Amino acid sequence: MFISDSIKYIGVNDHKIDLFEGQYVVPNGMAYNSYVIVDDKVAVFDTVDRNYSHEWLDNLKKALGGRTPDYLIVSHMEPDHSANIAAFANLYPHAVIVASAKAFSMMQNFFGTDFADRRITVGEGDSLSLGKHVLNFHTAPMVHWPEVVMTYESTEKVLFSADAFGKFGALDADEDWACEARRYYFGIVGKYGAQVASVLKKLSALEVAVICPLHGPVLNENLSYYLNLYSIWSSYGVETEGIFIAYTSVYGNTKKAVDALAEKLKEKGCPKVSVTDLARDDMAEAVEDAFRYGKIVLATTTYNADIFPFMRTFIEHLTERNFSNRTVALIENGSWAPQAAKVMKEMLSSGKNIKFADNTVHIRSALNEESRNQIDALADELCTEYIAQRGDSANKNDLKALFNIGYGLYVVTSNDGERDNGLIVNTVTQLTSSPNRVAVAINKDNYSHHIIRQTGIMNVNCLSTEAPFSVFQNYGFRSGRNVDKFEGIAEMRSDNGLRFLPQYINSFMSLKVEQYIDMGTHGLFVCSVTEARVISKVETMTYTYYQNNVKPKPETEGKKGFVCKVCGYVYEGDELPEDFVCPLCKHGAADFEPVK
Ligand code: FEO
Repeated sequence: MFISDSIKYIGVNDHKIDLFEGQYVVPNGMAYNSYVIVDDKVAVFDTVDRNYSHEWLDNLKKALGGRTPDYLIVSHMEPDHSANIAAFANLYPHAVIVASAKAFSMMQNFFGTDFADRRITVGEGDSLSLGKHVLNFHTAPMVHWPEVVMTYESTEKVLFSADAFGKFGALDADEDWACEARRYYFGIVGKYGAQVASVLKKLSALEVAVICPLHGPVLNENLSYYLNLYSIWSSYGVETEGIFIAYTSVYGNTKKAVDALAEKLKEKGCPKVSVTDLARDDMAEAVEDAFRYGKIVLATTTYNADIFPFMRTFIEHLTERNFSNRTVALIENGSWAPQAAKVMKEMLSSGKNIKFADNTVHIRSALNEESRNQIDALADELCTEYIAQRGDSANKNDLKALFNIGYGLYVVTSNDGERDNGLIVNTVTQLTSSPNRVAVAINKDNYSHHIIRQTGIMNVNCLSTEAPFSVFQNYGFRSGRNVDKFEGIAEMRSDNGLRFLPQYINSFMSLKVEQYIDMGTHGLFVCSVTEARVISKVETMTYTYYQNNVKPKPETEGKKGFVCKVCGYVYEGDELPEDFVCPLCKHGAADFEPVK
């Protein structure tokens, strides 16, 4: 493998290995990479597995072309790379060993010597000149052991990345990089996402043209592809849109449920459905798929008052690798004391940002009509966005979409010539900035609409998140025609003579109506800004914030009917009249939902 005239590959392929690190099947073998930089000084990067000593030393001798090495750079002490340090040191007695302090302690453990008389200890920011080439050392703890040091050669912009960016598979195997790199990553460093992310951040300051890892191919083009995958993996992000189903099945009934679900998911437009039998398929492959997709379904049986052993092992693999940021759905099977769903949920519940699907499938021995319906409901839930994204399956008249428009909440103040008035609205929008034009829509039923039509001025008070529910009750749930909404409230006025709120706002603006548009139920006032003041830095109250944090939970206990989503008013009855208007907040039937 050609890297450059000065940087040579001297690694080996291992096709004899059965299990890498004693646990990972590697059908296409492994590569143990090693490199030499030949300059005024000669530096060797890492050794190889103990079974390939002679082959590696032959490769090294050939690359040296009669020179002798000055340095052995030890990036990582795991024996697949360090096994030949002592053999190298004996063969080249004048070479100096370069490694981190932790690596030298490990050498003492492995070889009975820490090379005290012939070593250079390096840490973050140290460098070593070879002549034209300069080695810059960067510590990379826990990627994959604590002693790891990566080296950046700044002349040719080459990063010697230790285990990072490595993969399973010998270099003569023709296979996809990402598949075996992902299985390798999540198997070996999946637990250390935070540490990988911090190394990536450090490396982002370097201009890298070539990555020389300790396993897998040298990467010298399209590096952003590999860096992007490492960024997703280390942050436990979603790499591929789709759903992963991992199951165990003793007599085939759980498998039948999985097959039925997989079929339904495909029918509903899920872009990729991947299914694994945990008892028969490669566990490491299942682990990488769980981290690849954003949604996973776990299906298993209750077993010895717990869950089936392969599922327990699988979930333990996930949790020990910080499984997070995923939607998890559960299918359980149990004939007399089912509890698999409960056990799986408990095992995963400590994960960060794990959302469990609302629907769980409960099988009692074999599928029946009830559990088939549960599979349908789960498929619908998991495919919500896929169904909506597809032109042929989407509900194209789902007006709930309008509820997702983001709104702030405001008190619009006005004066009818005798009394100040205030009204809660969420329909304030800046239309243009040159000149500043602000639109305010107000329901014609409100007294404020009537006043502003006549006076042509208003103040818009931007409520902050400090506003309590009483503010909404005061300005929103009653009419200024009947009550004085400013009774007992400290008087503060802007230059147009109107009130602004002394509390609970972060700013207000005085508006002058330039144009009025009749919108049927509402009037739209298009206004210029005559005054604008910022009162505080507290965040603006949004409609969502109000719903989640300010509005009291409606008292629906024991009641049947419909509840107003704006103010919590409960209409008791079997049917809500289409033209119903909330007596408290004046919102229409569309803002009501059935009491649950
Ligand atoms: Fe390739 Fe962590 O050794």
